[in-house]
Amino acid sequence: RPGAQEWVPPRADVEALTRAVHDCRGCELWQPATQAVFSAGPDDAAVALVGEQPGDQEDREGEPFVGPAGRVLAEALQAAGMDAEQVYVTNAVKHFRFTERGKRRLHKKPVVAHIRACVPWLEAELTAVRPRVVVALGATAARAVLGHEVRIGAERGHVLDGESHDVVITTHPSALLRLRDRARYGEEFDALVADLRTAADAAA
Ligand code: URA
Ligand code: SF4
Repeated sequence: RPGAQEWVPPRADVEALTRAVHDCRGCELWQPATQAVFSAGPDDAAVALVGEQPGDQEDREGEPFVGPAGRVLAEALQAAGMDAEQVYVTNAVKHFRFTERGKRRLHKKPVVAHIRACVPWLEAELTAVRPRVVVALGATAARAVLGHEVRIGAERGHVLDGESHDVVITTHPSALLRLRDRARYGEEFDALVADLRTAADAAA
C-alpha cells in the first residue's frame, strides 16, 4: 500500500523509529514542514496518548505537545493525578500540515489520506511500547487508532477492549483552546480529566 510503510524499519525500537521518520516520504506533508515530530516519553509506558499532528511550535522544536495544546494537556494530566513524565506521547500524523497566511502558518487538519499514510509509524511505535491503554485525543487520533471514523461525543470515556491494548477516546486539548466561555472551558476540561483518569485506572 502507499504511505509510510517502506520507510518504517521492521521490528525497530522507538529510538530507531525516531531516527528513521526523518526520511519518510510516505505522503506530501514532509516537504513544507520543518521536520518530522515523533514521540516523547518512556518507551515502556503503560499509557500512550495519541494526538492529531504537530502544531506550529512542535514543528519548529521537533517535540510533540510543546505548544498551547501541550500546556492544556499537561494541566489535565496533572489534574488526573498522572505523571506527565510517565506517559508516552505521540501523534497520528508526524508532519505539520498548514497554510501560510502572510508570515503566519495556520494549522490545517490532516485528511484521511494523511492519516492512512502515516499510520504505519503509529503501529510500529505501539508495537514497540506495548502500552496497556492507548488514549486517542480527538477524531483524527481515534481514526488512526481504531481504523474507522468515530463520533467522539458518543464514544468518549469508555474503555474499548482491543487485542493488544485497550483504547479510550476523548477530546483533543486544542478544542478547549477555542472555548472563550469560562464555564464551558471548565466543563470540557473536567471531562478531559475524567477520561484521562479512566485511562489511568484501566492501565493500573
Ligand atoms: N496538537 C497535537 O495534536 N499534537 C501536538 O503535538 C501538538 C498539538
Ligand atoms: Fe511520512 Fe507521516 Fe510525514 Fe506523511 S506525515 S511524510 S506519512 S511521516
